Amino acid sequence: MKILYADNYQSMSRKAANILSAQIILKSNSVLGLATGSTPLGIYRQLIDWYQKGDLDFCACHTVNLDEYVGLDPQNPQSYAWFMQSNLFRQINIDPANTHLPDGTQMDEMLECQRYNALIHRLGGVDLQLLGIGRNGHIGFNEPGTAFEKETHCVRLTESTIQANARFFPSLEQVPTRAYTMGMKAIMQARKILLAVSGAAKADILEASLFGPITPQVPASILQLHPDVTVVADQEALAVILHAHPDQIAGNPSC
Ligand code: PGA
Repeated sequence: MKILYADNYQSMSRKAANILSAQIILKSNSVLGLATGSTPLGIYRQLIDWYQKGDLDFCACHTVNLDEYVGLDPQNPQSYAWFMQSNLFRQINIDPANTHLPDGTQMDEMLECQRYNALIHRLGGVDLQLLGIGRNGHIGFNEPGTAFEKETHCVRLTESTIQANARFFPSLEQVPTRAYTMGMKAIMQARKILLAVSGAAKADILEASLFGPITPQVPASILQLHPDVTVVADQEALAVILHAHPDQIAGNPSC
């Protein structure tokens, strides 16, 4: 595992975008695993910028997203499909047919999970999976306690996740209670993983995930077993690791 230091959110975004960009340049038909949330926004802005400057070409890329709310269609501004359209896909030259998310309108859970798993396998698996991490160590919607063996599955959102997401919805009642998510098994099958982390609120969980016991109580901890993980984190997110394991960080400001 490589842990790369960045001064701040902007620098973290740029470094992570550089890694994604190298992947696309080295393999133009890469399958990119993408994430939503506030963390990747700066990465997507940077990729758009490089695309507009003519430095990146997405025409042969495929994307598969980690998760989607059940019950929201892609035209719903709260859906992750809408998020991806607004924050990345509409602003680059990716073929819309090559962009994939779980289908929030499919109410048959088993059918949708089977479809999404089969799709990922048909594409040949994920070349590079971009991840964020929740304050409780969740990855996608894999909350603490989720079995590591799962592929795409449907989860009931925990009360704390519903509360945390309520800020994006007009009322608490409108927050979906279920979501489709790639499971930790599917995520671990990606050839490379890029974990982007920003902010002091993630410092403790980042240290616990990367250096603590590997346990379903901290879903991100299983990343310790993946052979090719790069973590790009800003100074605030690295606060605990900088103190406890300073020699594990590349690009440490002290050298
Ligand atoms: P965030 O979410 O990027 O909005 O902090 C990350 C996550 O919950 O996976």
